[in-house]
Amino acid sequence: MTIETERLRDRVAAELLRARERSTRLTEAVDDDDLVAQHSPLMSPLVWDLAHVGNQEELWLVRDVGGRAAVRQDIDELYDAFKHARRDRRALPLLNPAEARRYVAQVRDKALDVLDRARLDQGRRLVADGFAFGMIVQHEQQHDETMLATHQLRSGPPVLSAAPPPAPASVVTGEVLVPGGPFTMGTDTEAWALDNERPAHQVFVAPFHIDRAAVTNGAYAAFIEAGGYDDPRWWTAAGWDHRQEAGLTGPAHWQRDGSSFAATTFGRTAPVVADEPVVHVGFHEASAYAKWAGKRLPTEAEWEKAARWDPATGRSRRYPWGDAAVESRHANLGQRFLRPSAAGAFPDGASPLGVHQLIGDVWEWTSSDFHGYPGFAAFPYREYSEVFFGPDYKVLRGGSFGTDASAVRGTFRNWDYPIRRQIFTGFRCARDA
Ligand SMILES: [Fe+2]
Repeated sequence: MTIETERLRDRVAAELLRARERSTRLTEAVDDDDLVAQHSPLMSPLVWDLAHVGNQEELWLVRDVGGRAAVRQDIDELYDAFKHARRDRRALPLLNPAEARRYVAQVRDKALDVLDRARLDQGRRLVADGFAFGMIVQHEQQHDETMLATHQLRSGPPVLSAAPPPAPASVVTGEVLVPGGPFTMGTDTEAWALDNERPAHQVFVAPFHIDRAAVTNGAYAAFIEAGGYDDPRWWTAAGWDHRQEAGLTGPAHWQRDGSSFAATTFGRTAPVVADEPVVHVGFHEASAYAKWAGKRLPTEAEWEKAARWDPATGRSRRYPWGDAAVESRHANLGQRFLRPSAAGAFPDGASPLGVHQLIGDVWEWTSSDFHGYPGFAAFPYREYSEVFFGPDYKVLRGGSFGTDASAVRGTFRNWDYPIRRQIFTGFRCARDA
């Protein structure tokens, strides 16, 4: 066994621990009644997420990688995300909070034992480079972000708090020109990249302009004040139908406050900050704003080229700032702050062309449907991505303030229905050059 393998083992253990600390914070912030409550039909009870995280860890690390006996085979069906809709999970005979905590701790002990003995440097593709462990780390962190979104939807006094995000040294506005030509999209080399990020392939992108920052609350408020929600010219037919049916008048959690707007964030209501990115808007709202502004949403390929393409070398990098791992100075990630930061707050994370905050702050809607790349092969199971391919889902990129660094990178792809806005979604605009 090499030093690198031992380093990887230590890193996996540290990442598993970090994810569990976050899950614990999110589930200990509320009482048992709150843990089993259905805060929104769009979300599971928090206690379901917790035990589901343990169940996936059991399935992949304990049973599959470790070849060990099942801890609780009898509960697999309850925690299979494909068997029960989120709105129905509360009525299931779920583990109660104490049982769920005991279960995830028991699974974790066994998973760490499996990690100790796993040959990370050889053998099965599932285990090579610690992939299965990385997948489980990302899965737990993804559910932590989901649980954070549930926190945003719960009512009652606030239970989460954080310092405000850093203020920008200088405000970033305007757009940059991304030259036309091919670039490498996706990856073959990122060890913990998921199946839908693979394989790396060349994509030709025509020249385009992209905003240096995400659309702000101030800019979005101007769209509302200009009657944007009442003018079907800016909306697609499907978008307008949805706007009418759902009675949309602004981002989720906004209230009009005289001539301005306030927003409720994790139980606290305050005036919206004009130069912070707008959050909790759906795809239809994002596209309507873009059309009103004389622009459009970027395609997924445009977003990734703006984020990864290095004009000096022609290479695609792991992140906008280069290949170096995420540091706190690069991006607003990991729930360190409970809201997105103003454009210019993370200058060290900018791309070579001067596009800011592509990683962190808000998930950014793109205009692209979710599809497999040419040569896509499902791994390790079809239900991770492939069953979602098609025109029903739009791709989101870049992660939010609630996304952990382990669960986002320049190639990372998220997807959701165009009407969804309970996740931490915003957008930036682009236009043809
Ligand atoms: Fe899951």
